[in-house]
Amino acid sequence: MDVRTIVVTGASDGIGLEAASQLAAQGHRLVLVGRSPGKVAAAAARLVAESPTTQVGSFVCDFSVLDDVRRLADDLLAICPRIDVLVSNAGTAYPSRTLVEGGLEATFVVNHLAGFLLTELLLDRIIATGDARIVITSSVGHAHATMNFDDLHFERGYQTHRAYCRSKLANVLYTRHLARRLEGTGVTVNAVHPGAVATSIYDGSPPLVKPIMNLAKRLVMISPARGGAALTRLATNDDVAGLSGQYFTKDRVKEPARLARDRHVEQRLLQVSRQAVALPPVPDERGC
Ligand SMILES: NC(=O)c1ccc[n+]([C@@H]2O[C@H](COP(=O)([O-])OP(=O)(O)OC[C@H]3O[C@@H](n4cnc5c(N)ncnc54)[C@H](OP(=O)(O)O)[C@@H]3O)[C@@H](O)[C@H]2O)c1
Repeated sequence: MDVRTIVVTGASDGIGLEAASQLAAQGHRLVLVGRSPGKVAAAAARLVAESPTTQVGSFVCDFSVLDDVRRLADDLLAICPRIDVLVSNAGTAYPSRTLVEGGLEATFVVNHLAGFLLTELLLDRIIATGDARIVITSSVGHAHATMNFDDLHFERGYQTHRAYCRSKLANVLYTRHLARRLEGTGVTVNAVHPGAVATSIYDGSPPLVKPIMNLAKRLVMISPARGGAALTRLATNDDVAGLSGQYFTKDRVKEPARLARDRHVEQRLLQVSRQAVALPPVPDERGC
């Protein structure tokens, strides 16, 4: 088996941590990215204890700060001569409307713009690695989203669910855009809904909803390990090699929602995303 260098964001907890653990157990080199220094260190220690021969590196980065993401990209480019897999998984849901630098809504920034920026900054290295993969954790929630470009950052009508679903729609739109851009490079990119997974992401639920979520976590939701397995499969399994631009629900390809397939929405999202993170337009934006 080839030993691959795999970068996992949101690797300090939940689905990302379990995927990282599974990938380390396969013998790959893992680079963990998380927000909290203590949690990232604990995650790295866990992987080393479970898989003593695996190389594990770790970085701390707050995805709500785009300059932090730029610094992370520089650091990764400095230490990773190759990036075989990027698992873009960090995500959250802000209970109330929170703005970050530039007046951007924080859920959109953490769940879409930060991962988008990181991917774009690492893309040349990923392409140069060859036969590489990008896995983007989206959600079935993307199907409930609206994409109002006149009020992208919810000056009106912020609700956690609405903001979360919009960010997850952005994940699928970006996946499809990137897949077209990457055609012929040998790099694939796919989005995945890992299932309803019992993780800390539900900890910020409103007090009235929390008992229901806790019950659902115990009775209905799948374990973080099972959720992580959906990412692990897309990261390394042979049976999905060559598949690109797809939206998976757990381990099945599914057609994403209508809005996620709308090329005009996709194009507009790409323009506003590049502007928001101060990236120049892609050379072939006319065709993608
Ligand atoms: N759980 C589900 O049912 C479900 C369903 C569909 C999709 N998803 C998606 O799965 C992904 C992982 O979520 P999860 O359920 O595993 O939740 P989780 O247990 O809360 O893990 C989220 C991960 O993202 C990191 N993160 C959160 N905010 C961050 C920030 N500002 N900067 C950097 N990292 C940050 C967290 O770091 P800390 O440890 O420091 O918080 C953690 O490592 C998300 O993209 C989520 O949207 C989850």
